[in-house]
Amino acid sequence: MAVSTGHAHWSSRWTFLLAAVGSAVGLGNIWKFPYEAGQGGGGAFVLIYLAFVFLIGTPVLIAELSLGRRGQLSPVGSMREIAKAEGRSSWWQLVGWSGVIGAFIVISFYSVIGGWTLGYFFQAMGGFSGYDAAISGENFQSFISDPLLPLLTHAVFMAITVFIVARGVQKGLEKAVTTLMPALFVILVILVIYAGVAGNFSATIDFLFSPNFENLTPRRVVEALGLAFFSLSLALGSIMTYGSYLDRSINVTRSAITISAADSAVALMSGLAIFPIVFAFEGLAANQGPGLVFVTLPIAFGQMPLGVVFGTLFFGLLLVAAITSAISLLEPSVAYVEETGALSRRNAAILIGGGAFLLGILTAYSQGDSFLSDVRLFGFDLFGLKDYLTNNIMMPVAGMFTALFVGWFVARKSMLAELAMSVRAFRIWYFLVRFAAPVAILFVFLGLLFGDDFYNLLYSVDVLIGIVWFALAIASGRLAYIRDRSPAGWFLVGLVFPFAVLFVAVATHGTIERAQLREAHKALGEPEDRDEY
Ligand code: PHE
Repeated sequence: MAVSTGHAHWSSRWTFLLAAVGSAVGLGNIWKFPYEAGQGGGGAFVLIYLAFVFLIGTPVLIAELSLGRRGQLSPVGSMREIAKAEGRSSWWQLVGWSGVIGAFIVISFYSVIGGWTLGYFFQAMGGFSGYDAAISGENFQSFISDPLLPLLTHAVFMAITVFIVARGVQKGLEKAVTTLMPALFVILVILVIYAGVAGNFSATIDFLFSPNFENLTPRRVVEALGLAFFSLSLALGSIMTYGSYLDRSINVTRSAITISAADSAVALMSGLAIFPIVFAFEGLAANQGPGLVFVTLPIAFGQMPLGVVFGTLFFGLLLVAAITSAISLLEPSVAYVEETGALSRRNAAILIGGGAFLLGILTAYSQGDSFLSDVRLFGFDLFGLKDYLTNNIMMPVAGMFTALFVGWFVARKSMLAELAMSVRAFRIWYFLVRFAAPVAILFVFLGLLFGDDFYNLLYSVDVLIGIVWFALAIASGRLAYIRDRSPAGWFLVGLVFPFAVLFVAVATHGTIERAQLREAHKALGEPEDRDEY
C-alpha cells in the first residue's frame, strides 16, 4: 500500500543516485574514515568497516529506502502511516522523530566543521609554505579559537545549505548534486593520481590493506560500526526522506548496493589520496586523530611540488562533499514541517537552518580556547555532547528499531512485494535485518554505554555468546528450510557464523592486556591516556 501525496519526486534514477551518494559521501569519508583507520591500525579497521557496511549497513539502507518510498512522506509521516497500515502501534513514528531531530542536531555541528573546511579552502589558496608541526597546529588552534572566523564560516556554510534546500527537490537538491558530484569525483581522482606520483604509495597500500589486528581494540570496532552507519547516512532520516522522493519503478536493492559501493570506494580513495602524502614525510603520523586533515595535511602541502594547487583542490573536495551531505541533513526536518502545512518549504528551510545555526554556535565556541571550551555537561564539551548523543545513542537506537520494524513488525509479504528481489536475495536480506543487524548494533551500543566493563564481560562469556549465536543461526536456517524447502537458510548459517566469531573475537581482543596496562598506569600514579585502552 502506498500512501500517495502530491509531494516532490526525483526526475530520474540517476539524479536520485547522485543525491544519495552525495549524502553518503561527506566528512565521514574524507575526514573521519582516514583518521579512524589511522588510529585503528589500518587494514584490520578497513576490513571490519567494509564488513559492517555490507552486512549491516546495506540491509538497513535497503530498509530505509523502501520505508520512505512506501510512505511517500517525511520520516515521521512515513513511519506513522506504514505502522498504521501494518496494524502496529503509532509509537513507531518515534523512529521517524529520532531521525528528524537527530539530523537537526547533527547539521548544527556538521556545519561548523563545514565552516572550518571553507576557511581552509581559502587558506590553501594562499599556500601553507614553511609549515611545520608546531606552526600548523598553532594555525588550526588559532583558527578554531578565533572569535569570528568559525562563526562566519559556519554561517556561510549554513546559508549555502539553506539556499539549496529552500529551492526544493528538483530545483535545489538535484541541481546542486548534478554539478557538485561530478566535480567531486574528478577532484578525487586527480588527488589520488597526485598522491600516487608525489607521495609514498606503497607504504599506503601496506597500511590500508594489510590487516594488523594488534591495534584493533574494541573501541575501534565500535567506531567502525558507528562510522559505517554515519557514512551511509543511516538512522538520521536522510535516506528515508530521499527514498520518499522515489517512485515505485526504481529498484531499491540495486540502488542501495550502488550507494554503499560508491561510498566505500570514496572512503578508500580518500585514504589513497591522504596517506601517501602523510607517509612521504618523516615525522608525520597516520594516527593523528581528528587533526589529520587540518593539521597534518597542510604541512605536507606546504612542502610538496604544486602544493598550493593540490591543497586547494583537496579542501575544495572536502567542502563539496560536506555540502551535499549537509543538504540531506536539513531535508528531513524541512520535509516534515512542510508536510504539516505550517510553513512553506522556503520559510521552513530558513527557520530550521537558522535554528541549527544558533545551536551550532555552541559547538563553534566550545573548540580551541574559545569562551565555551571549558563548559562541561555530563563530562563532555558541547561539541562532544552533541556528537555522543547522536552518534552513540540516537543513531544506534533508531538503526536498531528500523531493522526490527521491517524485520519483525511489517508483514513479510509486504516487504517481499516492496523489494521485488529474487527470493534467495530476499532471504539473505531478511535474515540480516532480523538478526544480524539488531544484534550487532546492540553489542556496539552496550559497548558504547558501558565501555570496558562490557567488553570484559564479553571476554569472559564470549564462548557462550558464540554458542547462542550459532544456535540462533542454526534455528533460523532450519526454519527457512522447513518453510521454503530451500537450502538458502543454511547458506546464511555459513555466512553469519564466521562473521559472529570474527566480531566476538575482535571485540574482545586484548581487553585483558589493556586492563592490566591501565592498572599498571594507576599503580604508577600516571595519568590515564584513554586512547591506549
Ligand atoms: N554520510 C555523511 C558523511 O559521511 C554524513 C551524514 C550522516 C549525512 C547522516 C546525512 C545523514 O559525512
